[in-house]
Amino acid sequence: MSEQTAASPKRQLTAPDILAAKGQRKLAVLTAYDYPTGLLADEAGADVILVGDSLGNVCLGLPDTLGVTMADMLHHTRAAARAVKNALLVGDMPFLSYQTGIETAVANAGRFLQEAGARAVKLEGGAEFVPHIKAMLSAGIPVMGHLGLTPQQIARLGGFKAQGKTARAARKLLADAHALAGAGCFALVLEAVPAEVAARITAEIDIPTIGIGAGPDCDGQVLVFHDVLGLCPGLRPSFVKQYADLWTPAREALSAYCAEVRGGAFPAEAQTRRMAADELAEFQASSEYGDD
Ligand code: KIV
Repeated sequence: MSEQTAASPKRQLTAPDILAAKGQRKLAVLTAYDYPTGLLADEAGADVILVGDSLGNVCLGLPDTLGVTMADMLHHTRAAARAVKNALLVGDMPFLSYQTGIETAVANAGRFLQEAGARAVKLEGGAEFVPHIKAMLSAGIPVMGHLGLTPQQIARLGGFKAQGKTARAARKLLADAHALAGAGCFALVLEAVPAEVAARITAEIDIPTIGIGAGPDCDGQVLVFHDVLGLCPGLRPSFVKQYADLWTPAREALSAYCAEVRGGAFPAEAQTRRMAADELAEFQASSEYGDD
């Protein structure tokens, strides 16, 4: 029987809860990068909130995720953690924070939990990272895998390209997915892979798959916060569904503010604090300044 009853308050989801959702319900995952985005994603009911290294693109104005550092990730995860009360908060391990060795990987993963309030980490890559993942799990750190288009490999891949399109590449993805599930990952992100490949992986492994550009058969879906809300101008990948265009009204509101400041319409009387009449009279009558 679940420890959570109808009478008990809702508790924050954990990695075991996400694992247990496999085959039970679809998982909704969103990224978030700070206090307001964390609050919005959490209030919207996301199961998992990922502080993705996509923050390089959507928050820091970088062309890719290679320039994102541990310091960036911890700073943003800390802010999101102050907001997230219901979802499982996952910190994304940035480029070179885990690839250089197992000890470094565990130490950096641990910082997300110890210093930033995350309760799990995500890392990109396949079977080659099984020893790193096992070491993290031994240290008590739940790990989410990430296969397919792995943006930290962009220099090697030659761009943001869909993966697993040939039978050979698809077999490699399947093998990696089995390796990550076998290593103990509690969930697996599949990015930009054919729907058929994602469906087979989802059917064969016993941990939830979370798709982004991986078709409808995954156990859950993830989208980048700014893409969902239309908060980033410019090109979006074709698999993104934009649920709102907040950029246009935001820019219009800010332009209206600038125009009102220049034209003198802001601040109006409603935004102005005035002195009590007697204090004002005394102030105007006094020729001195400074404390009494
Ligand atoms: O960095 C990120 O936001 C991600 C998601 C797109 C899965 O890795």
